[in-house]
Amino acid sequence: MNIKLIKAFKEYNETKVLDIDELQFEENNIYVILGSNGSGKSTLINIISGLNKLSGGKILYDDKILNNEIRKEISIMVQKPYLFNTTSKENILKGLKFRNFNELEINNAFEKYKSYFNIDNLLNKKSKWLSGGERAKIALLRTAVLETELTILDEPTASMDIESSMIAEKLILDMKHKKKTIIIVTHDVNQAMRVADCVIFMDKGKIIEMGNKNKVLKNPENRLVKQILNI
Ligand SMILES: Nc1ncnc2c1ncn2[C@@H]1O[C@H](COP(=O)(O)OP(=O)(O)O)[C@@H](O)[C@H]1O
Ligand SMILES: [Mg+2]
Repeated sequence: MNIKLIKAFKEYNETKVLDIDELQFEENNIYVILGSNGSGKSTLINIISGLNKLSGGKILYDDKILNNEIRKEISIMVQKPYLFNTTSKENILKGLKFRNFNELEINNAFEKYKSYFNIDNLLNKKSKWLSGGERAKIALLRTAVLETELTILDEPTASMDIESSMIAEKLILDMKHKKKTIIIVTHDVNQAMRVADCVIFMDKGKIIEMGNKNKVLKNPENRLVKQILNI
């Protein structure tokens, strides 16, 4: 799969919070988006996932206009995940059931993904009793089990402890197999270095630097990126 944004922008009250001339995501890559609060990261990925709408411009998926039918191949873990008022296990399975996977597929996917985290004690617990980090694990798993062509994760490890973050990173790296594409928003530069193929820096709705992680994180061109990374 290949996603291309062309002259894509979003404005609120005549202020552009996203302003992208051209941006392409290619298969078999992990993209990490960095940038200060309010730089437009969530707006960008929510627009790709369909949770938000462009004010102008277009998005192509394999050269076709991205519509809701095609969006079945995209899954997202939003920044503040909403869990259904049921058990953790049901939350993990809901998307698979909704997408009409059969029982065997559902069981296999569940067994495979639940074993990443040590969460046996959470599986039958109602989601409302979960801590922030526990919720994040369940939300990450319910997104990962879908194994969509494109997976988008908005600050997936922000509330996780160090050990859980490392497990999440392992999961994310495993997800790349089978030519999948993953887009992750994070504030953790070290995490970007560990998991990214390509790093994108955003500021004020624009992409100010993008490229191979070693280039962007160790030898950036942009003055602001240099300043943020203290280079
Ligand atoms: N519904 C909205 N109405 C007005 N402004 C919004 C709305 N949603 C987001 N914004 C603004 O758009 C900008 C980008 O937000 P966001 O994409 O959430 O940033 P990030 O994820 O990089 O922190 C921010 O300045 C935010 O306040
Ligand atoms: Mg955000």
